[in-house]
Amino acid sequence: MQALLDALKPGQEDETLARAIDPRRLPAHIAIIMDGNGRWAKRRGQLRLAGHKAGMRSVRAVIETCAQLGLNALTLYAFSVENWKRPRTEVEMLWRLLRTYMRLELPELMRQNIRLYAIGRLEALPPQVTEDLKEAMAQTSTNTGLQVNLAINYGGRAEIVDAVKALVEESRGSTVEIDEAAISAHLYTAGIPDPDLLIRTSGEMRVSNFLLWQIAYAELYVTETLWPDFTRGDLLRAILDYQKRDRRFGGLGANGRPPVDDRFSETLGIPAR
Ligand code: IPE
Ligand code: IPE
Ligand code: MG
Repeated sequence: MQALLDALKPGQEDETLARAIDPRRLPAHIAIIMDGNGRWAKRRGQLRLAGHKAGMRSVRAVIETCAQLGLNALTLYAFSVENWKRPRTEVEMLWRLLRTYMRLELPELMRQNIRLYAIGRLEALPPQVTEDLKEAMAQTSTNTGLQVNLAINYGGRAEIVDAVKALVEESRGSTVEIDEAAISAHLYTAGIPDPDLLIRTSGEMRVSNFLLWQIAYAELYVTETLWPDFTRGDLLRAILDYQKRDRRFGGLGANGRPPVDDRFSETLGIPAR
Protein backbone atom coordinates (compact mmCIF):
# COMPACT_ATOMS: atom_id res chain seq x y z
CA MET A 1 0.00 0.00 0.00
CA GLN A 2 2.81 2.41 0.92
CA ALA A 3 4.42 1.70 -2.46
CA LEU A 4 1.31 3.08 -4.16
CA LEU A 5 1.21 6.22 -2.01
CA ASP A 6 4.91 6.78 -2.71
CA ALA A 7 4.23 6.61 -6.46
CA LEU A 8 1.46 9.23 -6.36
CA LYS A 9 1.85 12.97 -6.40
CA PRO A 10 0.18 14.79 -3.49
CA GLY A 11 -3.07 16.43 -4.51
CA GLN A 12 -3.56 14.15 -7.51
CA GLU A 13 -7.09 12.64 -7.72
CA ASP A 14 -5.65 9.11 -7.51
CA GLU A 15 -3.82 10.09 -4.34
CA THR A 16 -7.07 11.19 -2.69
CA LEU A 17 -8.66 7.87 -3.72
CA ALA A 18 -5.68 5.86 -2.47
CA ARG A 19 -5.71 7.65 0.89
CA ALA A 20 -9.39 6.78 1.32
CA ILE A 21 -8.64 3.04 1.02
CA ASP A 22 -8.45 1.07 4.26
CA PRO A 23 -5.19 -0.90 4.00
CA ARG A 24 -6.48 -3.51 6.49
CA ARG A 25 -9.46 -4.41 4.30
CA LEU A 26 -7.90 -4.82 0.89
CA PRO A 27 -9.14 -7.66 -1.30
CA ALA A 28 -6.37 -10.28 -1.42
CA HIS A 29 -7.41 -11.40 -4.90
CA ILE A 30 -9.07 -9.38 -7.66
CA ALA A 31 -10.40 -10.95 -10.87
CA ILE A 32 -11.24 -8.87 -13.94
CA ILE A 33 -13.32 -9.54 -17.04
CA MET A 34 -11.58 -7.11 -19.37
CA ASP A 35 -14.39 -6.32 -21.78
CA GLY A 36 -15.19 -3.62 -24.33
CA ASN A 37 -12.07 -3.37 -26.49
CA GLY A 38 -14.05 -3.79 -29.70
CA ARG A 39 -16.65 -1.17 -28.80
CA TRP A 40 -13.92 1.25 -27.73
CA ALA A 41 -12.34 0.98 -31.18
CA LYS A 42 -15.66 1.15 -33.01
CA ARG A 43 -16.56 4.40 -31.25
CA ARG A 44 -13.38 5.88 -32.64
CA GLY A 45 -13.98 4.51 -36.13
CA GLN A 46 -11.01 2.19 -35.73
CA LEU A 47 -10.46 -1.53 -36.22
CA ARG A 48 -11.04 -3.90 -33.28
CA LEU A 49 -7.28 -4.49 -33.23
CA ALA A 50 -6.77 -0.90 -32.07
CA GLY A 51 -9.04 -1.61 -29.10
CA HIS A 52 -7.11 -4.72 -28.10
CA LYS A 53 -3.83 -2.79 -28.39
CA ALA A 54 -5.17 0.07 -26.28
CA GLY A 55 -6.38 -2.48 -23.71
CA MET A 56 -2.73 -3.39 -23.03
CA ARG A 57 -2.22 -0.01 -21.37
CA SER A 58 -4.99 -0.82 -18.89
CA VAL A 59 -3.44 -4.24 -18.23
CA ARG A 60 -0.13 -2.58 -17.41
CA ALA A 61 -1.73 0.03 -15.12
CA VAL A 62 -3.84 -2.51 -13.24
CA ILE A 63 -0.94 -4.94 -12.70
CA GLU A 64 1.32 -2.17 -11.45
CA THR A 65 -1.32 -0.81 -9.07
CA CYS A 66 -2.18 -4.24 -7.63
CA ALA A 67 1.54 -4.87 -7.05
CA GLN A 68 1.94 -1.49 -5.36
CA LEU A 69 -1.09 -2.19 -3.17
CA GLY A 70 0.56 -5.43 -2.09
CA LEU A 71 -2.30 -7.71 -3.22
CA ASN A 72 -1.64 -11.44 -3.48
CA ALA A 73 -3.34 -12.22 -6.77
CA LEU A 74 -4.88 -10.68 -9.87
CA THR A 75 -6.67 -12.87 -12.42
CA LEU A 76 -7.29 -11.40 -15.86
CA TYR A 77 -9.70 -12.90 -18.39
CA ALA A 78 -7.84 -12.58 -21.66
CA PHE A 79 -9.40 -15.23 -23.93
CA SER A 80 -12.35 -17.52 -23.31
CA VAL A 81 -12.97 -20.96 -24.81
CA GLU A 82 -15.91 -19.29 -26.58
CA ASN A 83 -13.73 -16.58 -28.14
CA TRP A 84 -12.64 -19.05 -30.87
CA LYS A 85 -16.01 -18.19 -32.47
CA ARG A 86 -14.52 -14.86 -33.58
CA PRO A 87 -13.02 -14.31 -37.04
CA ARG A 88 -9.71 -16.11 -37.47
CA THR A 89 -7.91 -12.85 -38.19
CA GLU A 90 -8.97 -11.39 -34.83
CA VAL A 91 -7.97 -14.53 -32.95
CA GLU A 92 -4.55 -14.65 -34.64
CA MET A 93 -3.99 -11.02 -33.86
CA LEU A 94 -4.80 -11.62 -30.21
CA TRP A 95 -2.09 -14.32 -30.07
CA ARG A 96 0.37 -11.96 -31.70
CA LEU A 97 -0.48 -9.24 -29.20
CA LEU A 98 -0.13 -11.62 -26.27
CA ARG A 99 3.32 -12.71 -27.44
CA THR A 100 4.40 -9.11 -27.93
CA TYR A 101 3.07 -8.22 -24.49
CA MET A 102 5.05 -10.99 -22.83
CA ARG A 103 8.26 -10.10 -24.64
CA LEU A 104 7.97 -6.40 -23.80
CA GLU A 105 6.70 -6.74 -20.24
CA LEU A 106 8.86 -9.54 -18.88
CA PRO A 107 11.68 -7.27 -17.64
CA GLU A 108 9.14 -5.02 -15.91
CA LEU A 109 7.40 -8.02 -14.31
CA MET A 110 10.78 -9.18 -13.01
CA ARG A 111 11.56 -5.71 -11.67
CA GLN A 112 8.23 -5.63 -9.83
CA ASN A 113 8.78 -9.16 -8.43
CA ILE A 114 5.60 -10.36 -10.15
CA ARG A 115 4.86 -14.01 -10.81
CA LEU A 116 3.08 -14.76 -14.07
CA TYR A 117 0.84 -17.78 -14.29
CA ALA A 118 -1.53 -18.95 -17.02
CA ILE A 119 -4.81 -20.79 -16.48
CA GLY A 120 -6.94 -22.46 -19.15
CA ARG A 121 -6.59 -25.20 -21.74
CA LEU A 122 -3.11 -24.10 -22.72
CA GLU A 123 -2.29 -27.23 -24.74
CA ALA A 124 -4.80 -26.11 -27.41
CA LEU A 125 -3.05 -22.78 -28.07
CA PRO A 126 -0.74 -22.20 -31.03
CA PRO A 127 2.57 -23.88 -30.04
CA GLN A 128 4.62 -20.65 -29.92
CA VAL A 129 2.10 -19.05 -27.58
CA THR A 130 2.24 -22.03 -25.21
CA GLU A 131 6.02 -21.96 -25.38
CA ASP A 132 6.26 -18.24 -24.61
CA LEU A 133 3.81 -18.61 -21.75
CA LYS A 134 5.75 -21.51 -20.26
CA GLU A 135 8.97 -19.54 -20.54
CA ALA A 136 7.48 -16.46 -18.87
CA MET A 137 6.02 -18.64 -16.10
CA ALA A 138 9.37 -20.36 -15.55
CA GLN A 139 11.28 -17.08 -15.51
CA THR A 140 8.98 -15.47 -12.97
CA SER A 141 8.27 -18.63 -10.92
CA THR A 142 10.45 -17.65 -7.96
CA ASN A 143 9.13 -14.09 -7.73
CA THR A 144 7.36 -13.54 -4.43
CA GLY A 145 5.17 -10.48 -5.08
CA LEU A 146 1.83 -10.27 -6.84
CA GLN A 147 0.72 -13.37 -8.76
CA VAL A 148 -0.88 -12.48 -12.09
CA ASN A 149 -3.01 -15.26 -13.53
CA LEU A 150 -3.79 -14.87 -17.22
CA ALA A 151 -6.92 -16.79 -18.14
CA ILE A 152 -6.31 -17.91 -21.70
CA ASN A 153 -8.48 -20.38 -23.60
CA TYR A 154 -10.27 -20.46 -20.29
CA GLY A 155 -13.80 -21.64 -19.53
CA GLY A 156 -15.26 -22.09 -16.06
CA ARG A 157 -17.22 -25.18 -17.05
CA ALA A 158 -14.23 -26.65 -18.92
CA GLU A 159 -12.16 -26.11 -15.77
CA ILE A 160 -14.64 -28.01 -13.60
CA VAL A 161 -14.79 -30.84 -16.17
CA ASP A 162 -10.97 -31.00 -16.21
CA ALA A 163 -10.86 -31.05 -12.40
CA VAL A 164 -13.34 -33.91 -12.13
CA LYS A 165 -11.47 -35.86 -14.84
CA ALA A 166 -8.19 -35.38 -12.98
CA LEU A 167 -9.78 -36.54 -9.74
CA VAL A 168 -11.19 -39.68 -11.35
CA GLU A 169 -7.90 -40.45 -13.09
CA GLU A 170 -6.01 -40.05 -9.84
CA SER A 171 -8.27 -42.51 -8.10
CA ARG A 172 -7.32 -45.20 -10.68
CA GLY A 173 -10.53 -47.12 -10.24
CA SER A 174 -10.62 -47.07 -6.45
CA THR A 175 -13.17 -44.92 -4.64
CA VAL A 176 -12.24 -41.32 -4.13
CA GLU A 177 -13.61 -38.75 -1.73
CA ILE A 178 -15.28 -36.02 -3.79
CA ASP A 179 -15.89 -32.93 -1.73
CA GLU A 180 -15.46 -29.19 -2.28
CA ALA A 181 -11.85 -29.24 -1.12
CA ALA A 182 -10.99 -32.06 -3.56
CA ILE A 183 -12.54 -30.21 -6.50
CA SER A 184 -10.88 -26.90 -5.54
CA ALA A 185 -7.54 -28.70 -5.32
CA HIS A 186 -7.88 -29.93 -8.91
CA LEU A 187 -8.92 -26.65 -10.53
CA TYR A 188 -6.36 -24.65 -12.56
CA THR A 189 -6.37 -22.25 -9.60
CA ALA A 190 -5.44 -24.89 -7.00
CA GLY A 191 -3.73 -23.26 -4.05
CA ILE A 192 -4.85 -19.74 -4.99
CA PRO A 193 -7.50 -18.33 -2.63
CA ASP A 194 -10.82 -17.41 -4.33
CA PRO A 195 -11.24 -13.86 -5.67
CA ASP A 196 -12.72 -11.38 -3.21
CA LEU A 197 -13.70 -8.91 -5.89
CA LEU A 198 -14.78 -9.53 -9.49
CA ILE A 199 -14.72 -6.51 -11.79
CA ARG A 200 -16.32 -6.43 -15.24
CA THR A 201 -15.89 -3.50 -17.57
CA SER A 202 -18.18 -2.35 -20.41
CA GLY A 203 -21.39 -2.69 -18.43
CA GLU A 204 -22.35 -6.27 -19.28
CA MET A 205 -24.13 -7.88 -16.33
CA ARG A 206 -22.89 -11.42 -16.85
CA VAL A 207 -19.96 -13.63 -15.91
CA SER A 208 -19.37 -15.20 -19.37
CA ASN A 209 -18.07 -18.53 -18.05
CA PHE A 210 -15.38 -16.96 -15.86
CA LEU A 211 -14.22 -18.63 -12.61
CA LEU A 212 -17.67 -20.13 -12.00
CA TRP A 213 -16.56 -22.17 -9.01
CA GLN A 214 -14.27 -19.57 -7.46
CA ILE A 215 -16.63 -16.57 -7.51
CA ALA A 216 -19.22 -18.22 -5.23
CA TYR A 217 -18.82 -15.38 -2.71
CA ALA A 218 -16.91 -12.75 -4.67
CA GLU A 219 -18.24 -9.19 -4.54
CA LEU A 220 -19.30 -8.10 -8.03
CA TYR A 221 -18.49 -4.70 -9.47
CA VAL A 222 -19.63 -3.75 -12.97
CA THR A 223 -18.58 -0.47 -14.55
CA GLU A 224 -19.73 1.07 -17.84
CA THR A 225 -16.13 2.07 -18.57
CA LEU A 226 -14.71 0.19 -21.54
CA TRP A 227 -11.52 -1.76 -20.81
CA PRO A 228 -9.10 0.51 -22.74
CA ASP A 229 -10.41 3.48 -20.71
CA PHE A 230 -10.03 1.67 -17.36
CA THR A 231 -7.40 3.46 -15.29
CA ARG A 232 -5.64 3.18 -11.94
CA GLY A 233 -8.31 5.54 -10.55
CA ASP A 234 -11.08 3.22 -11.74
CA LEU A 235 -9.43 0.31 -9.95
CA LEU A 236 -9.13 2.34 -6.75
CA ARG A 237 -12.82 3.30 -7.03
CA ALA A 238 -13.76 -0.39 -7.39
CA ILE A 239 -11.74 -1.22 -4.27
CA LEU A 240 -13.38 1.62 -2.32
CA ASP A 241 -16.80 0.31 -3.35
CA TYR A 242 -15.76 -3.19 -2.27
CA GLN A 243 -14.78 -1.86 1.15
CA LYS A 244 -18.33 -0.59 1.69
CA ARG A 245 -19.81 -4.07 1.27
CA ASP A 246 -20.90 -6.26 4.16
CA ARG A 247 -19.69 -9.74 3.22
CA ARG A 248 -22.02 -12.07 5.06
CA PHE A 249 -21.23 -15.44 3.44
CA GLY A 250 -24.75 -16.54 4.32
CA GLY A 251 -24.37 -15.48 7.94
CA LEU A 252 -25.52 -12.30 9.63
CA GLY A 253 -22.64 -9.99 8.85
CA ALA A 254 -19.81 -8.36 10.70
CA ASN A 255 -21.43 -8.15 14.15
CA GLY A 256 -23.33 -11.42 13.85
CA ARG A 257 -26.70 -9.74 14.45
CA PRO A 258 -29.37 -8.36 12.13
CA PRO A 259 -28.80 -4.64 11.55
CA VAL A 260 -32.31 -3.57 12.67
CA ASP A 261 -34.21 -4.22 15.90
CA ASP A 262 -35.07 -7.79 15.04
CA ARG A 263 -38.20 -7.03 13.00
CA PHE A 264 -38.19 -10.61 11.77
CA SER A 265 -38.87 -11.88 15.30
CA GLU A 266 -41.60 -9.29 15.77
CA THR A 267 -43.41 -10.41 12.61
CA LEU A 268 -43.36 -13.98 13.84
CA GLY A 269 -44.54 -12.94 17.28
CA ILE A 270 -41.29 -14.14 18.85
CA PRO A 271 -39.98 -11.85 21.60
CA ALA A 272 -36.95 -9.87 20.35
CA ARG A 273 -33.61 -10.92 21.83
C1 IPE B 1 -12.55 -8.00 -24.57
O1 IPE B 1 -13.04 -7.07 -25.48
C2 IPE B 1 -11.31 -8.70 -25.07
C3 IPE B 1 -11.51 -10.12 -25.44
C4 IPE B 1 -12.61 -10.81 -25.29
C5 IPE B 1 -10.36 -10.76 -26.03
P1 IPE B 1 -14.03 -7.50 -26.66
O2 IPE B 1 -13.19 -7.89 -27.83
O3 IPE B 1 -14.96 -8.53 -26.19
O4 IPE B 1 -14.75 -6.14 -26.94
P2 IPE B 1 -16.32 -5.93 -27.20
O5 IPE B 1 -17.04 -6.60 -26.08
O6 IPE B 1 -16.60 -6.55 -28.52
O7 IPE B 1 -16.50 -4.46 -27.19
C1 IPE C 1 -15.51 -12.26 -21.93
O1 IPE C 1 -15.82 -11.30 -22.86
C2 IPE C 1 -14.18 -12.87 -22.25
C3 IPE C 1 -13.02 -12.02 -22.04
C4 IPE C 1 -13.05 -10.83 -21.54
C5 IPE C 1 -11.78 -12.60 -22.43
P1 IPE C 1 -16.72 -11.62 -24.14
O2 IPE C 1 -16.82 -10.36 -24.92
O3 IPE C 1 -16.18 -12.81 -24.84
O4 IPE C 1 -18.09 -12.02 -23.46
P2 IPE C 1 -19.59 -11.98 -24.05
O5 IPE C 1 -19.56 -12.68 -25.37
O6 IPE C 1 -19.97 -10.55 -24.19
O7 IPE C 1 -20.41 -12.68 -23.00
MG1 MG D 1 -16.80 -8.46 -25.33
